[in-house]
Amino acid sequence: MTGQHRSEFPAHIADSPFQRLAALISTVPPGATPIDLAVGNPRHAVPSFVRETVAAHAEGFGVYPAIRGADDFRASVGDWLENRYGLGGLLDAETGILPLNGSREGLYFATLGADSYLKKPGDRPVVLVSNPGYPAYSVGAFAVGAEILPFAPATADGVMPDWDALGGDVLDRTIAVFVASPANPQGTVASKADWLQLLERAERHEFMVFADECYSEIYRGSVAPPAGALEAAAERGSAARVVVFNSLSKRSNLPGLRCGFAAGDPAFLANWARLRNMAAPQVPTPTQAVAAAAFRDEDHVVDNRRLYDAKFALAEQALGDLFPAMTPPGGFFLWLDVSRFGPDPDVSRRMWAEAGVRTVPGSYLGAPMADGINPGEGHVRIALVQDEATTEEALGRLADMFRSR
Ligand SMILES: Cc1ncc(COP(=O)(O)O)c(C=O)c1O
Repeated sequence: MTGQHRSEFPAHIADSPFQRLAALISTVPPGATPIDLAVGNPRHAVPSFVRETVAAHAEGFGVYPAIRGADDFRASVGDWLENRYGLGGLLDAETGILPLNGSREGLYFATLGADSYLKKPGDRPVVLVSNPGYPAYSVGAFAVGAEILPFAPATADGVMPDWDALGGDVLDRTIAVFVASPANPQGTVASKADWLQLLERAERHEFMVFADECYSEIYRGSVAPPAGALEAAAERGSAARVVVFNSLSKRSNLPGLRCGFAAGDPAFLANWARLRNMAAPQVPTPTQAVAAAAFRDEDHVVDNRRLYDAKFALAEQALGDLFPAMTPPGGFFLWLDVSRFGPDPDVSRRMWAEAGVRTVPGSYLGAPMADGINPGEGHVRIALVQDEATTEEALGRLADMFRSR
């Protein structure tokens, strides 16, 4: 065997950004006690009801869970979506919601579902992925042999590309479009009008819209809650060709629970559930019970937002004069344009070497576009996930570093 038939992962998903970061700083000692602001792992408290809910449902670990989820889980998510987005009964909790073992596996499996559901004849299918963006979109596209086309937002404060510039033939070959709102890493958000435009195109060119909304509840107290793709679907009177992905990882500080959901197009979900039933991870029923309780409680979510608001205020104090308008409307990342300080991997390494702060070089979160430019370049992503005191310490060290030269 020469191995020549093995297909290579495209460079931007050959290694995770965190593996690349580890390699970047592996030989460099930290300049101070290390603080991790690289991984987007929320460190706020686990909600109080989690322990008792797991204990009350522990017997459920003795049973294989159904892929379509527990009735109470779907009912809770259905009510939450209705209240949050005012869907006017768009979704039936029986057919319009599926549990996920965290949204990541769903975002990966989604393209397998789109490929088998749409059965587009002819040329190699295309999957459009937001760039910079979450790697699971591209890994799923790679798994079905699709052409991965990264798109950059058309404007600095938006998440959508110029769809017309992509060309009708590309959109005709497209089976899936992945858009995150709030976006990771930028924290920018899509408006309802943005989603409406995308859904119109999905109908015209027959592709699936996969809306990654796992940061939907992490937004600044000073702005309106981000619009959701299902709101646009409700306005159109149909959930056809749209599926939203959400999660308790960020909303409820439960990344280790591994629980999220997909909601939207019932025909797509029915086909996808058949595939998932053979290959995807089910969600343990005690986990679903915790999730059902979490979606019925908004108090911990409001507290959570306040904690992030306080940390963005600290960031403004420490770095605001160096990086104007750096607080995004959504998400929990600072996405700093550090290009005047050097290439982003060098700046990130310096943050580690001089301040002991781990951050992600922006270019590691993006892919080169057709013109060779990686839109993540020149930026560094800083996750404001630690407690307030640790965050303040890290930001102070970074402010000293940036001012030292
Ligand atoms: C943009 C984005 N989408 C999806 C995920 C997956 O989250 P989870 O699998 O915990 O739901 C993450 C996690 O960091 C993310 O940042």
